[in-house]
Amino acid sequence: MADIIIKNGYILTMDPAQEDINRGVVVIENGIITQVAESTDETADTAIDAKGGVVMPGLVNTHTHAGMTLFRGYADDLTLSDWLENHIWPAEAKLTENDLYIGTKLACLEMIRSGTTAFVDMYIHVDKVARAVEESGMRAALSYGMIDLGDETRAESELKEGKRFVKEWNGRADGRITTMYGPHAPNTCSREFLIKVKEQAKKDNAKIHIHVLETELELNQMKKQFGMCSVNMLDEIGFLDSNVVAAHCVWLSDGDMDILNERGVNVSHNPVSNMKLASGIAPVPKMLARGMNVSLGTDGCASNNNLNMFEEMKISALLHKIDTSDPTVMPARQVLKMATVNGARAMGINSGMLKVGCMADMIIVDMGKPHLTPLYDVPSHLVYSASGGDVRTTIVNGKVLMDDYKVLSMDEKHVIESANGASVNLISRVAEQK
Ligand code: NI
Repeated sequence: MADIIIKNGYILTMDPAQEDINRGVVVIENGIITQVAESTDETADTAIDAKGGVVMPGLVNTHTHAGMTLFRGYADDLTLSDWLENHIWPAEAKLTENDLYIGTKLACLEMIRSGTTAFVDMYIHVDKVARAVEESGMRAALSYGMIDLGDETRAESELKEGKRFVKEWNGRADGRITTMYGPHAPNTCSREFLIKVKEQAKKDNAKIHIHVLETELELNQMKKQFGMCSVNMLDEIGFLDSNVVAAHCVWLSDGDMDILNERGVNVSHNPVSNMKLASGIAPVPKMLARGMNVSLGTDGCASNNNLNMFEEMKISALLHKIDTSDPTVMPARQVLKMATVNGARAMGINSGMLKVGCMADMIIVDMGKPHLTPLYDVPSHLVYSASGGDVRTTIVNGKVLMDDYKVLSMDEKHVIESANGASVNLISRVAEQK
């Protein structure tokens, strides 16, 4: 007997070998998809009626700092340097371990509610981040964000902490948690440090999550210091390969894209954050034309200000149409692929599709709503008309985390109250310091 059968839904497989099924079933056993078909003889402990809904792979957010939810709406409409130096960094310095636990819980709750089943994270107090992910039921690739600023002592302690975390948490929570190394960026980490991080990551067979060329400032700093941009510097030290998830990649030249393509680097595109901080527009259509693996990320809540991947999909499609003056770029199905298949590939997980053998990470989107009526084309609605709030069921690793809009894996009211309480305390600690 199977664990779960989902019936009567439109099955959006995202599998190139399997067309969508207008009214079909998905069968789940031991956390794995065992059938995707028009009907089944199988019985299961749990039957979910997806009538009027779209069953699809869960969305994968490939760049965020989940614990930053506590800074949602705390400092907006500022220049990047004012925002970072006078608001975010002083506040981050006051974050406690418990804040990270509560902030990450809040992030997981928001993601489960808005259809994200897996995310790639980089932040601090990572044991608490991992604990929150473990309890939430979500899947995540976590890393400790390392910054050395050219200080050798700091480099040593940062790598030590990164390494401890990679070893302690990889594969935990029934394999839902994987770990990565998280050197922050080429302009906050020294070249020597990045070489050491790469060596260690190779030894541990671990992936790397890093910000690359988010801002023009980084581009100019690197040119001044090394006479070359971040991509060239990283390539020179043998840093770039398919185990790297590079976030942002806004200020790329054509030559940089060729290098990233050749090395198989995974790029996480974060359009909302880039627009909000006026960082620039990543040349995503050019990367996709090269066949690069480009996925989508929200970045942290301080620069977005939510973790809603439906918004990220729509805005990425619109941004590149206006940027290229070409309404045919980034069509809906391609954007959906970025948010599912490509994200799973970047994380290195067997997910992102409704396919036999894939991990059972999926969502049901309710289509019986005024803003989703009439329905001619499912991908079009998912990208241009739907919102995170239309997700009614979320399943990760074969476990139902949200059923018919009710979150089962967390006490929603308690998480929201705790986050409000933590934010009041945090802001008073920041004010005391000033
Ligand atoms: Ni970031």
